[in-house]
Amino acid sequence: MKWDLVIEGGTVVTEHESYEANVYVKDGIISSISKEKLDGDALETVNAAGQYVLPGLIDTHVHSRDGGATHKEDFYHSTQAAAAGGITTIFEMPNTNPPVNNAENFHKQQENLTAKAHVDFGLWGICLGDLNINELEGLNESGVIGFKYFWGYAIDKQTFGLIYNYNEGMKNVIPPADDGEVYRMFEKVAKTGKTFAIHAENSELINHLTEEMKKTGRSDYDTLLASRPSLAEELTIQTGIAMAKQTGARLHILHVSSAEGVELIKRAQDEGYPITAETCPHFLFLTNEDYEKIGPEMKVYPLIKYKKDQERLWEGVREGVLSIVCSDHAPHTPEEKQADLWDAPAGMCGVETLAPLMLKAVSDKKITIQQLVSLLSTNPAKQFGVYPQKGSLQVGTDADFTIVDMNKEGTINKEKLHSKSKVSGFGGMSLKGIPVCTIVRGSIVMQDGDIQSEPAGRIIVSK
Ligand code: DOR
Repeated sequence: MKWDLVIEGGTVVTEHESYEANVYVKDGIISSISKEKLDGDALETVNAAGQYVLPGLIDTHVHSRDGGATHKEDFYHSTQAAAAGGITTIFEMPNTNPPVNNAENFHKQQENLTAKAHVDFGLWGICLGDLNINELEGLNESGVIGFKYFWGYAIDKQTFGLIYNYNEGMKNVIPPADDGEVYRMFEKVAKTGKTFAIHAENSELINHLTEEMKKTGRSDYDTLLASRPSLAEELTIQTGIAMAKQTGARLHILHVSSAEGVELIKRAQDEGYPITAETCPHFLFLTNEDYEKIGPEMKVYPLIKYKKDQERLWEGVREGVLSIVCSDHAPHTPEEKQADLWDAPAGMCGVETLAPLMLKAVSDKKITIQQLVSLLSTNPAKQFGVYPQKGSLQVGTDADFTIVDMNKEGTINKEKLHSKSKVSGFGGMSLKGIPVCTIVRGSIVMQDGDIQSEPAGRIIVSK
């Protein structure tokens, strides 16, 4: 058999162009992309006539909770959800138990996750200030795709779970680091040459305002927003940019939610600093006005903000100021999310709805299909050091593809999500443009919404 897989008659899309071609795969690698039909039999053929063949899409921001809070989610389910939603690679967040805080735990986590992975994955390393500053080089050598610092969060000392509603004086927590400690982390990560990614929210401002707002006795979304305003994001981005300028770190701002945030990042980029940023569908498709209908399920940190922020974020995506769109998949149980708005944990599912929602944006002419490929495949792969193995359609690279049918319509049904948790702010949203086939290194993992294979995902390391 000459080919293991042939994808016939589709329109191949890269970040720059689209053209009709057949794709030939052997041993998990792209062997040829040809407008002509090549000779030789294939073990498997996928007919992609009338459909787009995209380089495999990457979700760079996933919390699968494995190990640790596996009552909320685990890697088996999150990677099924990824495959069902057209994602071929995920980058897994490091605040698990044990956390990915040193080389030894990196390898433990690799082993834990590989057995359950339906798609390929990379691992983030965590920065815990002085607690693991001397482990960062080991994590770098192990192949983390980047370093994550939860700036503004306290972290549970035992479980390494995030403290969603922090009060000063809480016991058994690693409190947010001071700026001196943060500065040393910037320096250390800068030496590795890898990305230093920050959750950007100023905890001092938030703690103060939260105390004030809680005293009003109100627990509506606008009061919550008053306790975690755009200013919290702005302050931390500003400090982060200053530290990046000083240390040369490749700063990446995670899940940008505000117009002010976009402006600050744009200014730093215009000055020539290597600052990058991402946003998520919940900021692009929802605003404060949706709270009445959705309720606490849409509570995420940073909070979903106003229409003006949403509009600036879309502009930021189109301008390239925000070069990645990812899910921040952060499942909690429905019971946890039904608590009072102040007490409910922040986060919702997203890995399965990321690509469908961004395809909807293509149908609605908010972005082009080439821009989608840049945002969800090429840019993430380049940013995190795994290009062209991932994120490209080049001969000799991994045969990862997301095949999409732009004429197919649907509606997001939360109950049908593959995650353990069904918490999503997107239930009932109509879609146009659906991933119909997910292929990882030449193996069909999802076809027409059904998972087709046992876990065979592998780690991808960044060197
Ligand atoms: O809403 C959020 N939930 N934002 C984060 O940054 C973390 C996440 C989680 O892990 O629950």
